[in-house]
Amino acid sequence: MSDKSIPVITLDGPAASGKGTIAERVAASLGFHYLDSGALYRIATLAALKAGVSLDDAESLTAVAEKLSPVFKDGRIFLEGEDVTLAIRSEEVSAATSRVAVIPGVRCALFELQKKAAQLPGLVADGRDMGTVVFPDARLKVFMTATARVRAERRYKQLIGRGETADLEALTADLEERDRRDSKRETAPLKPADDARILDTSDMGIEEVVKKVLTWWNDAQ
Ligand code: DC
Repeated sequence: MSDKSIPVITLDGPAASGKGTIAERVAASLGFHYLDSGALYRIATLAALKAGVSLDDAESLTAVAEKLSPVFKDGRIFLEGEDVTLAIRSEEVSAATSRVAVIPGVRCALFELQKKAAQLPGLVADGRDMGTVVFPDARLKVFMTATARVRAERRYKQLIGRGETADLEALTADLEERDRRDSKRETAPLKPADDARILDTSDMGIEEVVKKVLTWWNDAQ
C-alpha cells in the first residue's frame, strides 16, 4: 500500500521526452530521491539476455524480474557486481526492453521494487505509468509530451554531440513506433493520469521545464 505521507512527484511521458533529465534536476533541487523506472525494465531485460532467456518466454522473464536486485550507487548501476550503466542503454537492450515491458508478470515483479523507492524526504519518479499505476496517490503528476519530430531532433543533437552518426528520419520513425507500442499495450499503457498536468515541452528549454514543475510542486503544498 502506498504511504501518502511520503511526497511523490511522478513524471510520465513518451520516449526521449526529456523526463529523465527533468526528473533528476527536480529531485536534486528538492533533495528528493530519484527513480528511473525505465532503468529497471532495462536491467531486467539485460539480465534475461545474459541468462539466455527467450523474449517469448513470459514465465522465465517474470522469474528473472522477481529475482532482480540491482544496486544503484554514485550514479552507476550494478547487477550482480557488474557495472551495467552503459550496457542497459544499448540499442539491443532498448529494443528488447519494449517487448519485455509488455509482460504483466514482469510489471508486477518490478512494481514492488518501484514502491520501495518512495522514501523520505520524497521521490521523483519517471516512467510511463508512475502516475497511473505505481504511485496513484502522488501529490503532483506531470505528463510530459513533445512531438516525435522535436524529440528526434533532441536525440539527434545528443548523438552528433557524442561523435556518433544519426539519421533524423530514422530516429523520428523509431520514436513513433515506440510511442505506438507503449500506448497500445494492454498492461499499463502510456497515458496521462486523469489528474495529471500536461506539459508540452516542444518549445521549452530544460531550465524552463524544471522551473514549471517546481512551481506546480510549490502550488500543490
Ligand atoms: O524510459 P526508458 O526509455 O528507459 O524505458 C525503457 C522501456 O521500458 C520502454 O520500452 C518503456 C518501458 N517502460 C515501461 O513500460 N514502464 C515504465 N514505467 C518505464 C519504462
